[in-house]
Amino acid sequence: MREEGIYIAAFLVCLAAFGCTSKKAAPAELEQAAAEPTAEPEAAPSEPVAVKDPVVEAEEIFNARCVTCHGEKGKGDGPGSAALNPKPRDYTSVEWQKSVTDEHIKTIIIGGGTAVGLSPLMPPNPDLTDKPEVVAALVAVVRNLGDE
Ligand code: HEC
Repeated sequence: MREEGIYIAAFLVCLAAFGCTSKKAAPAELEQAAAEPTAEPEAAPSEPVAVKDPVVEAEEIFNARCVTCHGEKGKGDGPGSAALNPKPRDYTSVEWQKSVTDEHIKTIIIGGGTAVGLSPLMPPNPDLTDKPEVVAALVAVVRNLGDE
């Protein structure tokens, strides 16, 4: 019994000492720690989407949506291009690459041909409106095909 009492007393002294120093040292940190448990469960489920590399996502989107018309090498000769008039843009044209800004390419990717006064055959991608980093990476894909 007596020994136990000593241990408990020592424990309490210890606790008081640590409690005091950490409270004095960083009250803001403690408040933050107390607030964290409520914030974490909400953030966790969306994490896998948020951490996806935009460059990887852009490449996937390009292969899934753009290659059909613009072709693997961006020459405007994809399998779906034969029936189209006008033809999809040939990204390898140096003249064309020089004639457009990145902003223009971003606008046509999100809003489609009609957003820049071109053919509605160039479809819009409204799901990319809130993914500017993916759109920027798509612009880079289009620009890189122009370099080849
Ligand atoms: C259904 C076929 C089709 C698909 C799919 C398509 N495009 Fe197009 N795209 C076109 C056509 C057709 C044009 C030419 C429009 C014109 O000249 O009026 C075009 C033009 C463009 C241009 C050139 C704009 C300019 O000012 O000359 C860019 C850049 C472009 N597309 C990017 C993309 C990207 C990136 C994707 C994938 C997210 C994509 N396109 C998907 C058909 C398509």
